[in-house]
Amino acid sequence: MQILKSVKEMQEHALELRREGKRVAFVPTMGYLHAGHESLIEEAARRGDSVVVSIFVNPTQFGPSEDFRTYPRDLDHDLAVCERNGVDVAFVPAADEMYPSDYSTFVEEERLSAGMCGVSRPSMFRGVCTVLVQLFNIVFPDVAIFGQKDAQQVAVVRKMVRDLHFKVEVVASPTMREQDGLAMSSRNSYLNEFERGDAAQIYQALLKGKAVPDSGQLSADRVLAEIMHHLRQYRRLRVIYVHVVDKDTLEPLREVKPGKTLVATAVWCDEVRLIDNIEL
Ligand code: PAF
Repeated sequence: MQILKSVKEMQEHALELRREGKRVAFVPTMGYLHAGHESLIEEAARRGDSVVVSIFVNPTQFGPSEDFRTYPRDLDHDLAVCERNGVDVAFVPAADEMYPSDYSTFVEEERLSAGMCGVSRPSMFRGVCTVLVQLFNIVFPDVAIFGQKDAQQVAVVRKMVRDLHFKVEVVASPTMREQDGLAMSSRNSYLNEFERGDAAQIYQALLKGKAVPDSGQLSADRVLAEIMHHLRQYRRLRVIYVHVVDKDTLEPLREVKPGKTLVATAVWCDEVRLIDNIEL
């Protein structure tokens, strides 16, 4: 595995791969890799000849009061995970090369970013889009793999790719879950054992919501009521939002459209912000 740290080295390597006719599959990450990331890497290996993983905690997607400083980091572990999973290139850029002190260009998707997580984290998707445009222009991927756990991010990135004519296929890979259903996330490492127990109830609540259309009722309000009723039983959980939306446009739905509906939630578990979603 090659470990590349400068933009120039990565660009030159990526251009060489393209000259050789190789299909580049890219997994952008913020590191602290877990089994969810490993499944993205496996998906990348299925879809490309060469797998590039970036490891970069992107400062612009964190709000001023958010956890950028404390976000978990362990580069040695991340590189070992990449090596073990057959990654060809780990790209680990320096923050001052991605964002030099005079950096002033940002990319904003205005429609799909506005609701859900965009309400409580207003600059997050601007930061995500900005860093991904940079990374796409450094790695030149044919295909980029994202976790479906971040369903809004996937929808926003697809829209940005379409609007800006990037020649990148965006693939969403299924959410990996712990045995009790908790969606895997680097932020789960913040949870103590009591919080960890309550956090698992987020997915259980989504399953209660899913049972509504599974039993033939399509009312979105009914789905929301089941989920809220379940979450309210756990005192560490405070709901930020639960929405029933069209899975591509993220427009709110009054009725579940089977196969085309996403129920997405963000929940505080004490001081840890967790997200999850399920398709109906
Ligand atoms: O999903 C993430 O880990 C980040 O938002 C991403 C896509 C790597 C951009 O920093």
